[in-house]
Amino acid sequence: MEIRLDGKTAIITGAGGGMGKAAVERFLESGANVAALDIRTESLGELKKRYQEKLLVIDSNLTEQASVEAAFKEINEAYGRIDILANVAGIAQSATDIEEVSLEMWERIFSINTKAVFLTSRAAVPYMKRQGSGAILNVASISVERPRPGLNAYIASKGATVSLTKALAIELAPHHIRVNCVNPGPSDTQMLGEFTAAGADVESMKENTFRKSVPLGDLIQPQDIANALLYMSSDLARMMTGSVVNVDGGRGI
Ligand SMILES: NC(=O)c1ccc[n+]([C@@H]2O[C@H](COP(=O)([O-])OP(=O)(O)OC[C@H]3O[C@@H](n4cnc5c(N)ncnc54)[C@H](O)[C@@H]3O)[C@@H](O)[C@H]2O)c1
Repeated sequence: MEIRLDGKTAIITGAGGGMGKAAVERFLESGANVAALDIRTESLGELKKRYQEKLLVIDSNLTEQASVEAAFKEINEAYGRIDILANVAGIAQSATDIEEVSLEMWERIFSINTKAVFLTSRAAVPYMKRQGSGAILNVASISVERPRPGLNAYIASKGATVSLTKALAIELAPHHIRVNCVNPGPSDTQMLGEFTAAGADVESMKENTFRKSVPLGDLIQPQDIANALLYMSSDLARMMTGSVVNVDGGRGI
């Protein structure tokens, strides 16, 4: 069954990156208006030409309250409603022993992976409450369930996102706002190489560590995540809330 989101507005953060851009394209194909937020939006030029006013591209630093609020104001002026918020933006951590992790590194990772999810959710909820419905989707990581050494700050930040997903799911259920989370496994995007320790051979790590760690035998593609997000945002998932869905080729088993 084809999923259609005609007349709905979806906000996708991290929209200039691998999974975010795939999600932008998938949601546009399904008929939604899409607001695409990222600090790096160059990769969205071709989609903007193709979809014109159906796609609003906003340069936004999601760690800054004022930047998030300005983006939501612009989205409201363009589309007048917010039905779906997909928090895809994130940064990796180069594998680092805990005693070498600086406070600055820890705070930078939490700032985008956790604080930004709070800021965008807080901005979206008033619209969703007014409309009496909504879907918030967070992207965490399978590393929360199956950690790798040295990703201490990253895993803790994504664990907080999983907890926030459940906290908001129970809080917002009376308003028919569903909140769910996807845990990607090792995925074929630029970020994957950024998890390797400084000086490591990135290509060999991708092949010998990451791909081999997936029982289904392949890296996850950005489109696999986009498909899960589309389903979870749609009415097909109407009774799904507080769920954490692993799209990981079995890595979490
Ligand atoms: N690639 C993987 O193997 C993998 C595995 C598990 C989870 N994830 C998670 O999936 C999500 C998407 O990752 P991806 O693989 O597409 O990575 P990516 O690096 O291609 O995309 C991430 C995007 O987030 C944006 N971003 C970073 N900081 C920002 C900020 N302050 N404001 C606005 N945008 C900002 C970046 O500019 C980038 O475009 C992330 O949350 C990541 O943690 C990735």
